[in-house]
Amino acid sequence: MHPFVYDIPVKVYFGENQLGHLGEELKKFGTKVLLTYGGGSIKRIGLYDRVINELAQAGLEVFELSDIAPNPRIDSVRRGAQMCKDHQIDVLLAVGGGSTLDATKFMAAGACVDHDPWDFFNEKWAPIREALPIVTILTLSATGSEMDCGGVISNLQTKDKIGRLAPQLLPKVSFLDPTLTYSVSRFQTACGAADMMSHILEVYFNMEQDLYMLDCFMEGLMKTIIKFTPIALESPDNYEARANLMWASSWAINGFINGGKQQAWSCHPIEHELSAIYDITHGLGLAIITPRWMEYCLNDTTVRKYVQFGTNVFGIDASLPDMEIAKESIRRLSDFFFNTLGLQRTFPEVGIQASDFPVMARKACRGAVLPGFQPLNQQDIEEIFRMCQE
Ligand code: NZQ
Ligand code: ZN
Repeated sequence: MHPFVYDIPVKVYFGENQLGHLGEELKKFGTKVLLTYGGGSIKRIGLYDRVINELAQAGLEVFELSDIAPNPRIDSVRRGAQMCKDHQIDVLLAVGGGSTLDATKFMAAGACVDHDPWDFFNEKWAPIREALPIVTILTLSATGSEMDCGGVISNLQTKDKIGRLAPQLLPKVSFLDPTLTYSVSRFQTACGAADMMSHILEVYFNMEQDLYMLDCFMEGLMKTIIKFTPIALESPDNYEARANLMWASSWAINGFINGGKQQAWSCHPIEHELSAIYDITHGLGLAIITPRWMEYCLNDTTVRKYVQFGTNVFGIDASLPDMEIAKESIRRLSDFFFNTLGLQRTFPEVGIQASDFPVMARKACRGAVLPGFQPLNQQDIEEIFRMCQE
């Protein structure tokens, strides 16, 4: 167990009717606000009007940047960074899902440098030393971007999708109102659940000595997602279900569950290569890859983690042989992703072709080894891809 620092300084307003605090929070950072959002869902659910009203009442000057796409593009980031510079923006207000929040984080950082924002992601790996303050209103429970310091940006020209972390990107304030997620589609609700599950599994499947307390916390989060996602699918406006999923999404990735673990993630870097080429929804890619990755990494040394997962999360009979429990735990997870959530199960179903396996695998491990629960080289990742074909 390694020493660690706990520091998650994001102020969260959770629950209904909290937007009354929006103006007062934004005003702490100045008067000029860049409001960012996606393709229009916030207008359809009436949120845009509510936000504009709050900003007007607070006397704030508002500039807008819309049309941030899922798997957000560097072009949006460039536009936003330039707007911040042109209008001397004081604070950015991101309203939407993870894509809007992620893009906004790098607009805020891009506003503070003279170089192209893509230099944060390419081989220059330009340092992120500063960012304008960011406030968020979350409308989709999935990525945890509302409470973490990361973001992932796509470049269609280079076919790259790359993530970056920096403490400067942490939102100052996030508004989490579960009722804003009532309108999220079945598909996006399901993908969000798969994404949250993966954020936890990437940390949970770890052979280092773990803090028992954090393992129990992670098992609780996973049980929460497994319990409440079917309810949200069945009754999209069930407040209890949407609230549990929303708060679970934040805590799955805000850094708390990591404790002192230093292990890198596996499924995320692999999935980002699928999204980079095929522009598929992140959670869907993770749902397809994760059970195959678990199957590939299962061996006599790693089996104890699967037993812990299977018995504590799915309630599998602990008296069964370890390997049997492990395999059953993978079956139960697959059942959750593909039957309960109704997500597609294989690469052919989503149009991913075997001819792209070598390039995606090579980029995922950067031509070397992807460290993680089990180190994976290009051949390992290609084998996992082959397992995703049926
Ligand atoms: O664009 P609009 O019109 O807003 O529609 C969006 C979009 O089409 C829609 N939506 C959002 N809220 C809605 C809604 N529709 C109806 N009602 C609402 N209340 O949902 C669609 C998907 O939105 P998006 O923001 O793309 O989804 P998500 O939150 O899953 O974000 C995915 C992105 O986040 C990255 C992913 O790689 C992907 O690019 N991630 C970010 C992470 C982070 N910051 O830490 C970690 C994750 O692992 C992930 O990689
Ligand atoms: Zn994710």
